[in-house]
Amino acid sequence: MALRKVRLSDDPILRKKSKEIGEITDRINTLLDDMVETMKHEEGVGLAAPQVGVLRRAVVIDIGEGPVKIINPVIVDQEGEEIDVEGCLSVPGRSGTVKRPERVKINYKDIEGQEQVIEGTGLLARAICHEIDHLDGILYIDKMIEEIEIVEDEEDGEE
Ligand code: NI
Repeated sequence: MALRKVRLSDDPILRKKSKEIGEITDRINTLLDDMVETMKHEEGVGLAAPQVGVLRRAVVIDIGEGPVKIINPVIVDQEGEEIDVEGCLSVPGRSGTVKRPERVKINYKDIEGQEQVIEGTGLLARAICHEIDHLDGILYIDKMIEEIEIVEDEEDGEE
């Protein structure tokens, strides 16, 4: 596994639409492994392939229960709405509130190519929607209701 460079919000690749994955090749498996490693290293809750410069429909999510590799996700059901704070590894140093469904259900393929379903609420639903947006060239700042000022922790002593 290897770390990959996370593209920042001024990179035009983040605005492109990602292509569906057909056969799950070694190359796709390596991509997903690298994405998990990069997400952990960057302490993110999720990462989408375009964020590492690859326009394929793959995302990884870890809301603290271990990483999940998600290929070709499609939202098949959603319910309710919830406004909460989000950030993004491609938009460092900023955060803001976004309205997302309270519950979502997705169909996707796992790395064996098997059809799977995830149903999530709260943070998981938010992470899923945020990452799928990346596959369509959408950043959370496009949907941001209000920017949240990040207050530096004085005890860190950094200037
Ligand atoms: Ni993001």
